[in-house]
Amino acid sequence: MKQWMALALSAAFALSANAQNFPGSKPVTIVVPFTAGGPTDRVARDLAEAMRKHLPGGNFVVENAAGAGGTIGTAKVAKAAPDGHTLLVFHIGMAATPALYRKLNYKPLEDFEFLGMINDVPMTLIAKPQMEANTYRDFENYIRANAGKLNIAHAGLGSASHICGLLWQSTLQTKDAMTTIPFGGTAPAMTALMGGQVDVMCDQTTNTTTQIESGRVKAFAVTTAKPLANHPVLKHYPSLQEMGLKNFNLTIWHGLYAPKGTPAAITKTLNDTLKKALKDPEFIKKQEGLGALIVNDKRVEPEEHKKFVAAEMQKIKAAVDAGGKYAD
Ligand code: MLT
Repeated sequence: MKQWMALALSAAFALSANAQNFPGSKPVTIVVPFTAGGPTDRVARDLAEAMRKHLPGGNFVVENAAGAGGTIGTAKVAKAAPDGHTLLVFHIGMAATPALYRKLNYKPLEDFEFLGMINDVPMTLIAKPQMEANTYRDFENYIRANAGKLNIAHAGLGSASHICGLLWQSTLQTKDAMTTIPFGGTAPAMTALMGGQVDVMCDQTTNTTTQIESGRVKAFAVTTAKPLANHPVLKHYPSLQEMGLKNFNLTIWHGLYAPKGTPAAITKTLNDTLKKALKDPEFIKKQEGLGALIVNDKRVEPEEHKKFVAAEMQKIKAAVDAGGKYAD
């Protein structure tokens, strides 16, 4: 008994010493549950750089653990040691995967410490550069006229690009017009789109703005309710709602998470660092240049972020159950 108590006390002592010395010399790994070079990776790498600047001695590094719409990397973080050295950057999939995958080996609200929200990211409807249409109207007509011949890429079942493509097709009621091609992230999907191997994709502006600007893909519309009138590149495209897709409004968001049980002193340090990073002019400039909006409201607080994700989970589950289509 005495031995057991001594062991428990020394473990508790080690944990609190680690919390006080955090981050120490060990790197803090931010796991991205998608491939390198995609939109979530982009957010995580910009954030890692900003957090490194604002946490003395903090060596933030990014690791990609892609697959199954983000669920593989997310499950990995849920099971990681809760010592602040393994974190997760995930998007709306944090709220959508429990609805889309009926068997999932993590529970977003129970298995993670919420560290705060990072950004809101609109999406764009894009096509290969050779696409014959030039306006959204022409594009829609072209899709209807070529039903069964086109394909639409996404980053894996349950990913943001998958959700967006599904919503768009069901609003258009052309669901069988396109064959769905899943990739391990939108980085490889984007390569296939630019090369003309796939025809269409709906993807986050953080991944598409540069390609649209350089003409490597054709853009037709944004997914926000209103056009992005203040963005130098994206202001040229109408919103799907304006184009007659009633109530279409889709924005992706990203958040930062740690495994459940990470000591409060560490989660506080990480949340404080996140808040400083979100005010960093260089980080804001990079992200806003790509069409993202940095969170500047109470959702940066862990409890508010958690409430927001819980509400998103309910909303998405109702929509998924109504549609009856699951990723598994
Ligand atoms: C990625 O980083 O590949 C994307 O965030 C995937 C997605 O569309 O969800």
